[in-house]
Amino acid sequence: MSNLRFDNQAVVVTGAGGGLGKAYAVFFASRGANVVVNDLGGSHKGEGHSAKAADVVVNEIKAAGGKAVANYDSVENGDAIIETAIKNFGRIDILINNAGILRDVSFKNMKDADWDLINSVHTYGAYKCARAAWPYFRKQKFGRIINTASAAGLFGNFGQTNYSAAKLGQVGFTETLAKEGVKYNIIANVIAPIAASRMTATVMPPDILEHLKPEWIVPLVAVLVHSSNTTETGGIYEVGGGHVSKLRWERSKGALLKPDASLTPGAIARKWEDVYDFSQPEYPTGTANFMSLLEHSLKLGPAPAGEEPDFKGKVALV
Ligand code: NAI
Repeated sequence: MSNLRFDNQAVVVTGAGGGLGKAYAVFFASRGANVVVNDLGGSHKGEGHSAKAADVVVNEIKAAGGKAVANYDSVENGDAIIETAIKNFGRIDILINNAGILRDVSFKNMKDADWDLINSVHTYGAYKCARAAWPYFRKQKFGRIINTASAAGLFGNFGQTNYSAAKLGQVGFTETLAKEGVKYNIIANVIAPIAASRMTATVMPPDILEHLKPEWIVPLVAVLVHSSNTTETGGIYEVGGGHVSKLRWERSKGALLKPDASLTPGAIARKWEDVYDFSQPEYPTGTANFMSLLEHSLKLGPAPAGEEPDFKGKVALV
């Protein structure tokens, strides 16, 4: 058995001046890849810029005998980042969309600037980098993309509406890239990591952070972007501290009502047990089969009329 290698492949890692990005860059270089270490070098709130962050990582990789070049553009200028790979290495094989910032603020105090900057870096930035790499991926019938979501996007988190929206956006973005890429051996997956970095340094205690090394995120990413992975695409993974798991959608059995004027709020409220019935779940990768469901619902009698009951629901947010 030999280790997974990435010889002669070009890997672009965005936001590779620190945290997770640095761990990816150092790893891929150690396994033979040519790495573009992209980093704008600003603060975790997206203020300022500096060449230092990327340069330090490139120097570290070179000192260890690896091959890397720096790029200091913002991911919003993805064309220039991919161009750095083409110019220096003549190709692009793997894109790790990792760069990120935070602008945490309660929704009540959210400003357009906080919303726009987060979406520009995470959503537009990931799009620009992937869009620039896409023609190369298609042409060579090989491409691997990792996008970076967050638990905040999957589940919500106080003070992070902007970040949550952008991060769940990475999931939809990945699902569609996976579908459009499958014909060209372009594989796209999305991770929700948890790791010690300057982003999490202030929100978790040091004794916990010590077990959440960015290096513990890298192996999953390596497996997913390696050429030996030709099937796992469109996956959503939670990863950190030694735990790796896959997430998927679950659809309840659902209520079926005749689509006519009897379909009132009261009819829904009375059928809530069925809406919420997860005893025969589906794990869908697409919309429900509406044609077949319609066939059944049209055959039903109208929902019984009557007083609309008070809606009780099933779960409360805790
Ligand atoms: P980090 O702050 O250590 O690293 C992010 C890097 O991205 C920084 O070096 C920064 O300079 C760079 N960057 C920021 N804006 C950029 C831009 N416009 N263009 C190029 N580079 C830019 O943070 P960390 O923790 O390593 O985060 C990496 C990714 O993982 C981010 O997308 C973050 O949202 C995500 N994430 C991290 C979690 C964690 O537990 N650390 C949890 C969930 C998601």
